[in-house]
Amino acid sequence: MSTETMEARDFLAARIAGGVPKAAVVLGSGLGAFADELEQRVEIPYGAIPHWPVSTAIGHAGKLVFGAIEGLPIVVMSGRAHLYEGNTPAQAAFGVRTLGRLGVRVIVFTNAAGGINLDYSQGALVLISDHINLQGSNPLTGPNDDSLGPRFPDMSEAYAVRFRQIAREAARESGFEMPEGIYAAVSGPSYETPAEIRFLRTIGADLVGMSTVPEVIAANHMGLGCLAISCVTNMAAGIAQRKIEHQEVLETGRLVRGRLVSLLKAVLPRLVMEVS
Ligand code: HPA
Repeated sequence: MSTETMEARDFLAARIAGGVPKAAVVLGSGLGAFADELEQRVEIPYGAIPHWPVSTAIGHAGKLVFGAIEGLPIVVMSGRAHLYEGNTPAQAAFGVRTLGRLGVRVIVFTNAAGGINLDYSQGALVLISDHINLQGSNPLTGPNDDSLGPRFPDMSEAYAVRFRQIAREAARESGFEMPEGIYAAVSGPSYETPAEIRFLRTIGADLVGMSTVPEVIAANHMGLGCLAISCVTNMAAGIAQRKIEHQEVLETGRLVRGRLVSLLKAVLPRLVMEVS
């Protein structure tokens, strides 16, 4: 995997004109709109990048977009590799590792999630303060790649406190409050049962989803700063007395796009300042 991420990095490095981005954004299901906002866009389909896993999930574009917001170079992963597509945990972490090798220092993850905390409502944007990994796997299993990070990386502040403060302030400036919550990562692809949701609430989860955690583990391994924002696309199973449908997940994602785009635009330059 090490030589693969370096080959992908070299391929990308040869194609960036506007400077190496310090910040990356990973866009979740139905949240792809942000990529269209970049100035001087250069789009590279995942299929064109050596070894990059191609995402098959509906609602995911499957391309890397280089560009800028107000002159600040950034890179956007529009679409990600999920475990439920049959990807290994290392494949799920491939994009993050390649971007880390390219020089990215800050990554903002977005995802669609089910709301477990009854204080949330559909369409809410929630800052992930911590996670519980219930996927039964970890991208760091196997021989440790010492060029990426240590064998036993610390995860006690996986989602940087300072980044969360910055995001909360930016949300407030845009006129909304962003609560924090604990994200439980499951493998999917079936949605949870109501009994599983009661279990997740009991163990302290506020949100449930099928992504992000392998990427955040890989990012922390490399010492990258992480911020993660969940869009509550639906209340979790058994809360509203109706079925959960992927279509609804995508539609809610589209409804919050404006709020998410302006939040990301406000937050990214401040996060980059923080690590400069
Ligand atoms: N469960 C798991 N993942 C999800 C959900 C959910 O309810 N909604 C969006 N992603």
